[in-house]
Amino acid sequence: MTKTDSSWVLITGASSGFGEEFARQYAEQGHPLVLVARRLERLQALAETLRRQFRIEVVVEQVDLSDIAAVVQLHRRLRERGMAIDILINNAGHGLQGPFVDRQLDAALTMVQLDVASLTAITHVFAQDMRARRRGKILLVASLLAYQGVQNFAVYAAAKAYVLRLGEALHRELKRDGVTVTTLCPGMSDTGFAAAAQQKLTPALKLLMMQPAPVVRTGIRALQAGRISVVPGWANKALVILTWATPRWLHQAFLSRAMNG
Ligand SMILES: NC(=O)c1ccc[n+]([C@@H]2O[C@H](COP(=O)([O-])OP(=O)(O)OC[C@H]3O[C@@H](n4cnc5c(N)ncnc54)[C@H](OP(=O)(O)O)[C@@H]3O)[C@@H](O)[C@H]2O)c1
Repeated sequence: MTKTDSSWVLITGASSGFGEEFARQYAEQGHPLVLVARRLERLQALAETLRRQFRIEVVVEQVDLSDIAAVVQLHRRLRERGMAIDILINNAGHGLQGPFVDRQLDAALTMVQLDVASLTAITHVFAQDMRARRRGKILLVASLLAYQGVQNFAVYAAAKAYVLRLGEALHRELKRDGVTVTTLCPGMSDTGFAAAAQQKLTPALKLLMMQPAPVVRTGIRALQAGRISVVPGWANKALVILTWATPRWLHQAFLSRAMNG
């Protein structure tokens, strides 16, 4: 990609964390952007900064993605404006820590709606357009927790396992149509995630903590290279190797300890 790449990039969850960093790094490459999230003022402030700094076009879309009808309307609005999305960063999502039975069912289902149903809907509508144009790239943001069930993150880990499996399957399905699908599986990172998930930061997590910039750089490179999935950071890669190399009870006990203290 060059400094004047004119293909549109749509980023969900662009108002903080990884999404904000994806916006910065794609802006640096000269891409016009569509920024999507619920907090309008944060999106507008970011858009203004990126327009000024990189002289790119930035469209702000305030959308609650947990409403599937709103996802369909967003897609329609962009089509009506003649904007073809060539790169989709499917990043919006949140976690929830706590014992499954003690948590409100509503909170778990709201998370599944965003992390699973909405991600599926966005991927579906934009992948159809990309297939018709025979070009496009889709990045799905899963998690290191996609590789195993984790105590007190039962629904979140299961939701992210879905994202990883969806991404792996779509990578093969859409490859022949000229569309790349890559799944990014970050470990603990310094974003708004922990606060939103009411997550306790254990000493092990503080040790593993990555900054959003290298995680996002790894995701963009993997997408550009057409990889099926990627885990950023050596320590996180080592944890995935542990899930291949040890019995399930052992690595599940290890990660539960790291996540819960
Ligand atoms: N940070 C980590 O440790 C970590 C590790 C592995 C995976 N992840 C994944 O990384 C992705 C990004 O999270 P993050 O770490 O960057 O956390 P974050 O800073 O909390 O960002 C989450 C983003 O999702 C958006 N969002 C949440 N609910 C939404 C909704 N209903 N509609 C539209 N947008 C919504 C938020 O924007 P608004 O609140 O403005 O809507 C925000 O921009 C998530 O999928 C998360 O599961 C994070």
